[in-house]
Order: sequence, then C-alpha cells, then structure tokens
Amino acid sequence: MGITYLEQKKIFKLDTPNTTYLMEIVDAEGFLGHIYYGRRLEDAEGAEELLRTLEGPFTPETNSRDRSSFMDCFPWEYSSHGVGDFRESSVRVKDENGCSAVMLTYLSHEIYEGKRPLEGLPATFGKQDQVQTLEITCEDKCLGLRAVLSYSVFEDTDAIARSVRFENAGRQVLSLEKAMSCCLDMDNRNFDAITLHGSWARERRIERKPIGHGRFSVSTLRGETSHQEHCFLALAAPGANQDQGEVYGFHLVYSGNFLIQAEVNQFDSVRVVAGINPEDFCWRLGGGESFQTPEVILTYSAQGIGGMTNSLHKLYRNHLIRSPYLHKKRPILINNWEATYFDFDEKKLLDIAKESAALGIEMLVMDDGWFGNRYDDNRALGDWKVNEKKLKGGLGRLVEQVNALGMKFGIWFEPEMISEESALYRQHPDWALAVPGRKPTLSRNQYVLDISRREVRDCIMEQVFAVLHSANIEYVKWDMNRPLTDLGSAALPADRQGELYHRYVLGMYEMQERLVKEFPDLLLENCSGGGGRFDPGMLYYSPQIWCSDDTDAVERLAIQESTAMLYPLSAMGAHVSVCPNHTVGRNTPFETRGYVALAGTFGYELDITKLDEEDRAMVPRQTAMYHRFHDLVREGEYYRLSSWQENGSFDCFQVNGPDGKECLVFYTQVLNEPAKKSRIVRLKGLDAGARYRIRVVSMEGGDLIKDTGREASGEVLMYGGFRLERLWGDFRSRIFCLERI
Ligand code: DGJ
Repeated sequence: MGITYLEQKKIFKLDTPNTTYLMEIVDAEGFLGHIYYGRRLEDAEGAEELLRTLEGPFTPETNSRDRSSFMDCFPWEYSSHGVGDFRESSVRVKDENGCSAVMLTYLSHEIYEGKRPLEGLPATFGKQDQVQTLEITCEDKCLGLRAVLSYSVFEDTDAIARSVRFENAGRQVLSLEKAMSCCLDMDNRNFDAITLHGSWARERRIERKPIGHGRFSVSTLRGETSHQEHCFLALAAPGANQDQGEVYGFHLVYSGNFLIQAEVNQFDSVRVVAGINPEDFCWRLGGGESFQTPEVILTYSAQGIGGMTNSLHKLYRNHLIRSPYLHKKRPILINNWEATYFDFDEKKLLDIAKESAALGIEMLVMDDGWFGNRYDDNRALGDWKVNEKKLKGGLGRLVEQVNALGMKFGIWFEPEMISEESALYRQHPDWALAVPGRKPTLSRNQYVLDISRREVRDCIMEQVFAVLHSANIEYVKWDMNRPLTDLGSAALPADRQGELYHRYVLGMYEMQERLVKEFPDLLLENCSGGGGRFDPGMLYYSPQIWCSDDTDAVERLAIQESTAMLYPLSAMGAHVSVCPNHTVGRNTPFETRGYVALAGTFGYELDITKLDEEDRAMVPRQTAMYHRFHDLVREGEYYRLSSWQENGSFDCFQVNGPDGKECLVFYTQVLNEPAKKSRIVRLKGLDAGARYRIRVVSMEGGDLIKDTGREASGEVLMYGGFRLERLWGDFRSRIFCLERI
C-alpha cells in the first residue's frame, strides 16, 4: 500500500496490493491528468508518455492556439464544463450572472495516514496503518471555487475510495448543478458494461453488453437506490470471465439518485463519471460553505469478475460495516410477514414463537401491522404506538413472553413514511413531500415524510426510541416501501428545493446514525419493499439488508448470485418460506429452500404452526446446519463456479473457510435434463498440495455431515474438477463440505 508524490515528474502514484493509479500535473496552468489505472507497477518510468501531451494539439503552454482541442482530448482527472471539453463534465456550476463554466486546476496536495470521515455520509474507514489518503486541492480562480479530490488506498484490498469536497472560497453564491464523485478517463479497450437491472421481487439481474461510441449509463431518479438499477458499473475486457481478464468496478456508497456513465469519444477513449444524479439536483453554495459528494469505490482486477468480488467483499467487511454483529452469529429469526401479513394478534405471534423455540429458532420478528390502526396498508404510518387491540397486554408483555421462551424479539418500522389516514398527517399535513397546489402521488397508499426537516426526524425518532426503550427489543427491520415523488419541501426556500433529494438521503442517514448510537447492540436490517435500497451506503448502518420480497429458492439463486458479486454473503437477508411460493407459486423442496437461505443470513418467514410433519422435522436439522456453518459462511471467501442464469440448468458456488480447513460447495440443479452426464466444476482457492475428504450435508437422519467415501487432491479439484452427480428432479440441491486432511 502507499501513496507517493514523485516531485520531479509531478506524478502521484497510488498503490494497492495489486494495482497502481497514476496522475500527473502538467502545464504551467496545473492541469491534472489521468495517466494510468491497472495492474500494479513497481517502476512507473515512462508512464507519463501515456498522457499523449507530446502529440498535437500539445498543451496550451506550447500551443495556445488550439486550447479547445486540447481541452477536448486530454485525459482529465476531474473534467471541467463549458470551456472546451465537450465530453461528460464532472461538475457544473452556475455563477451569480447565470453563466455556467468551471475549470479546476491543481493548487496543493496533502498525503496522510488514515482516512477522515465524510460529513453526514456513510464512507469506508480504516486505522492509520490500514489506509492512506491523498487530498488534491484544485481551484477555479474565477469562481472562487475549490474542489478537494480525495483518494484513499487500503493495505488489504484492491480498492480506491474517491470523493470530492467543494468549498466556496469566494463571496458570490454558486449553484452547484452537478457534483460527481469521480471521473476516470482511459483508452477504450472495447469494454463490455456489466450492470444490474431489475424490478420489485426481481432485483439485480446481471446484464452484460459491449459499449460503443456515445454514452451508456445506469441511473435512478426514484430517491432511493432502486429495484430497477443498481449503483454499480463494471467495465470488463471482452472475454473477461470469473477468473481472468481485466475488470474495472465502480460502486457508489450512496442511497439516493445516482448516475454512473461511460462515454466513448471520437478518439476511442472512455470516460466514466459516477455520483449523485445531476438531474433535479442543485445545491446553493454560499461564500464559506462546502458540499461533500458521496464516495465511490473503484476496483481494478486482472483476475476477472471474481477478483473484483473479492476486493469488494474485503473492503465492505473490513472497512465499511460497523455493526457489532459484523463478525457475530446472527440469531436465526422467524418473521411473521408471509405467515400472517396484517392479520395477527398476541396469541398468533406466541403460537409461532412457541413452535419456533421448540425447533431451534432464536428470534421472533414482528413485521408490519402492530401499530396504530394498521389493519391493512392504507393507514397508520407515522403513528408508532402499539395497537393494544391486537397486542392485548402491550408490547412489554409480548416481549417478556417471547423472551421467556428463550427467544429474542425484533420489530418492524417504516420511519420515512406517512399515511393520509394517520393522526400524524391530520396534525401535520405539510410534513409530507408535496409541490404547492398539486396533490401528491400516492404509492402503496402512502406519502413520503419530509425528513430533510429536523423537527420531522425528531418526532419520528422520539416515537421509535420510545417503543424500543419500552421492551427488550434486540432487532429492528427498517423498511421503505415507495419511491420519492412530488419533490417539494414546505420548509425550504425556492432556491433550495433542488437540494431536497439529497437532503432527504442525508436526513435518512442521520436518523439511522441516531438509532445505532442510541442502541449500539441492536441488530439492524435495512429493507425497501424487498431489496430496493440494497447499497453500500446502507451497509454502513446495518450489517444485513433484506435482499428481495421474492423468497422463492430458484428466484433467489439469481438474486443472491448478483448480490454476492458485490456484497459479502453475511449482508444478504435470506429466509425459508412456504410453497407454493407467495410470489411465483413455485414448489421447491424444503431442503433446497434451507440450503439457499444458508448462503445469506438464514431465517424463516412462514407460519411454522402450519408446517407439515416432514418439513417441521427438518427445521431442527436446518438450524443445526446454520449453527455448524454460520462462521464459515459469514467469514469465508466466496467464489462463483457456475451460474444457472448463464447455463440455464444449475447453480454452483463455493465458500472457503478463513482457516482453510473446510470449504462448502453449494450446488442446485434447477432443471434436470435427460441423457446427460454428471457435471464437473473446477473448485477455487484450495490448497493445491493438500487432500480433501468429500462429505455432504444431509437433511436425513444420522449425522448432519456424512462421509461420501471420496477423497481428492486440491490439484485435482481445482485443475481437473469436482464431479457433481445429477439429482433426480428439478430444484434439487446439495451442499458438499470438503475437509482438508
Ligand atoms: C416490504 C418488505 O420487504 C416486506 O418484507 C414486509 O416487511 C412488508 N414491506 C411490510 O409492509
């Protein structure tokens, strides 16, 4: 790890274990150019040639006549606007005359050990001996604007965290109309874009396609990360696969409107910009004020997609998730949503709890419907008082009884929302987002609270805290069930309404920060109508996020594959539910549902009192399986071996325990096919010189892990392969447990 400034050449060199990033200050004007990002270079001699400043049109210093063509082809570290670079800008500023032009040049820099927090925003962190930061201050003298470009490199993973802080050092009021977190100019290598698209209950499907000239982007304007697009883009060399080829990853640590765009220009160079979506964004920056962009994570891997996955998993585990549960066993929970929806009372919950406790489940989570007069989803959001008609003796009594069964208790909230039919709305109709004179658009029959306002946040958090202090509540599910529309705040002046989307996100972060500070031992799970706000920003507050409302095991294979491409398995909320599945009506074996949920946080979401004998008998084995493997799954290294999204028939991935003694191979045959041989997959990350005993997890009687009598060397398993027999029927699954002998 390290950041060096090569004074003579005016080059900044940023090294992670396997990558190098180079920038150079050129020309008397202090243009900051991007030279290189890729495989690690021990010796960067000659790299400056890559800037092409020796070719026409040269730098303005040597050829001022063609300044504009220089502007339009130089690989800028942070692109300007309105002065000759016609590619995508990184920043757009309107001055008091109403004119837009900005050009940032080098002023000074600072290199320091550690990393400073970003005000009001989630961000990666590390100790002084784990991370080093470079801050380059650039300025636009005409505007009196400074931009501090920040780069942090980590000693244990190939990731660079970038962000920008704008400071208005002048007197005039500036309107920041665009403030991206990063810009990266490179030569195009005919990249493929890898993105994640989706919908409610069908989150994050992997899509790959070549990018050509022009602009390609992913974005959202829904006010949250969204089910539809993900705040991630990878540029992969054609042919790059799980194990080989170059892959650049861009992942935003942000939970609101975003834009990540790749543009290929006339000279076949590619520019990526990533940050807050500039549409509907305008931040008023008075003299002396500053604005902090969210952080974007850059990764480079010469070992394909798997290399990127590995870097991100390490980064998020070691430098983003703060929860005390990060390295701790998460209690096996049972959630009553799919069991009862809104139709429950104290007795029903206790019946579920009793049966669950007897079968090895450790926590009851009471979902939506416990407060106000919430008998359906048309009312009561904002009225966070227990409905004592449903819970007769109040929350305290219910929790005591659940605790007496040896179970923990968790509860659901949706703090950012308000129902028209609620006491809160009757009292404060102006607390909902609305454009004056226009009736706001309902979604799930609810409005969005204007949590950019301090008094709104205070009122909600006071209610939430009162509930959480009233009983022994050890888990919270924080839900958010609609996108933002009707962006108007009754509290903001006209020239600040463009700040509302971002202020909303900052408000939500502040509420979550208050929650985790007030209850440091709480297990928080974020959620948004399933996985609509699954992003690195939310992981800063909660170690796990509900992946999707689709709990069907087969759909989950796809959702969890793409989610695990970026996030550690320990972050993915996954439950066993009933069949026919409530979203797709599919029937899958109970055993398969358990194996699929084990690759996440593992829990249940069903009416356990109605399970048939056979399934019920399997629950204690499934919970025993979780107890046996939770450490390995949470702390282990994940490898994708085969994808049923690609091969159309089976899914396979591997998790290697941190001590190398054991690894798990998860195998699901989605569809059986006639007259085919067994499948062979090549395992990864094993000890080539060791031998492995091949065992299988069993849901039938006897030992949980059964010996198959097979043994194989690490070399054979990795270079030859591991044979997976075909299983009889569809949706069948096996977990192999390989033990190093
Ligand atoms: C959406 C969540 O994803 C579900 O799990 C459930 O909590 C419902 N909201 C409750 O309204």
